Amino acid sequence: VSEASPILQPGERAIGSVGQSLAAALDTSYVDRLNAAFYSRIEYPWPPHSLERFHGGLWVLMLNQDVGAWRAPRIPSAPEIWVAGCGTNQAVITALRFPRASVLGSDLSEASLEVARRSSEALGVSNLELVRESINEADYAERFDYVICTGVIHHNADPASSLRRLASATKRQGLLELMVYNQFHRIQTAAFQQALRAMLRTSTSPDFETEKALAQRLVECREGRGSMRTFLEARVSVPKAAFADALLQPVERSFTVESLAALAGCCGLEVLHPAIDAYSRSRGAVDWNLCFADAEVRRLYETLPDVERWHVTNLMRLEESPALWFYLQRTDSGLPRQSEASMAAAFLDERLVRVTDERELLVREPGGGYRSRGRQPVPAGAPPDREAAAVLADLPEGGTVGEVVSRLGLERSPRRVNRLRLGLATSAFPYLCSRALIEAES
Ligand SMILES: C[S@@+](CC[C@H](N)C(=O)[O-])C[C@H]1O[C@@H](n2cnc3c(N)ncnc32)[C@H](O)[C@@H]1O
Repeated sequence: VSEASPILQPGERAIGSVGQSLAAALDTSYVDRLNAAFYSRIEYPWPPHSLERFHGGLWVLMLNQDVGAWRAPRIPSAPEIWVAGCGTNQAVITALRFPRASVLGSDLSEASLEVARRSSEALGVSNLELVRESINEADYAERFDYVICTGVIHHNADPASSLRRLASATKRQGLLELMVYNQFHRIQTAAFQQALRAMLRTSTSPDFETEKALAQRLVECREGRGSMRTFLEARVSVPKAAFADALLQPVERSFTVESLAALAGCCGLEVLHPAIDAYSRSRGAVDWNLCFADAEVRRLYETLPDVERWHVTNLMRLEESPALWFYLQRTDSGLPRQSEASMAAAFLDERLVRVTDERELLVREPGGGYRSRGRQPVPAGAPPDREAAAVLADLPEGGTVGEVVSRLGLERSPRRVNRLRLGLATSAFPYLCSRALIEAES
């Protein structure tokens, strides 16, 4: 393998070393073995302080709204879901969010699956199956309504080939939720991994134990300046899994919006819309659109198609841009992709009702089990976005946001309306649901 070179991905004009740690990305089964060993040594992610159980269909409703299905559900109320590369808890979290779904969680790491099995048993989860399997060997054909794969294919030798398997497993009109690393978020991690392996000469054959020992020494001595020093300082006391995830990944590739769209295109997929992840939400990085004060700059930017505009945002925001976490659909779905502006316009006219749901909070006990702390209302509190909060306060039950926007004299530009949509009627901010969608579900 040492003579071979990494597999070039669609949209990659040349392999650069910035944000990429690819020396070992030589062969699919070799990298699968590296990942199986790596993720058996660390439990990723580490156990969350608490989990949430939902009893109704809130997450299905919100998933439909995330992709603009306001009238007829695109994802059925009892969907088939695959969490591919589920790690220790993502499949359990998904089964708890979608109680009527049948969830399949798969991973290369038996140790991670064992953690998931234990929590699933402790919580009495009955809609989850867990299997040890590589995405690169899975041959599901149009089986799933919804496939979730976040933080996985960029660790594989040939992400395009992994993504083709995910696309084939998705039903024609189903949805794929994909997260790959944003190149501008991985500059320090990949540089560190390369430096470490250059010293140990382990670039094509990463070795966890020797690399871990040197990584610890490098973090402790904190040589370096600027962003690398800040990066290393933040790794001094983190959980073992977080340390290894940042500093010791055997293989990591990273993307821009442009190269992700190219990758999707060659796998029979197209990028639909951003999915707001918890981390970007906590940083306030939920909108892929920029607001320019200069009218000419605004005009040039605003006339770009969605994906090209988001790519400009990716380049202009660099490390501040949101995670590359998107919904995708098959190009043979027969469903035309709605632009973000048309989704926002449809949202303005939709008759909406308030979300009144509950979540059961399950708090982790010292022994590893979970104890219910009772039910809490969803949503909790007002929307964080001030304009969204004002709209919600003024909206009559079954009214439209368009009427409120006119009454309050708010700006109706597609970008401002889209911000309202994001802050009021998405999985990340579930305050409103479409009345038509609820009626169609019941
Ligand atoms: C960074 S973790 C992400 C875990 C989970 N998706 C999440 O977001 O919490 C990557 C996971 O993908 C798994 N993985 C990597 N390549 C895989 C493959 N080809 N097939 C199945 N699992 C894979 C690893 O074992 C690991 O558990």
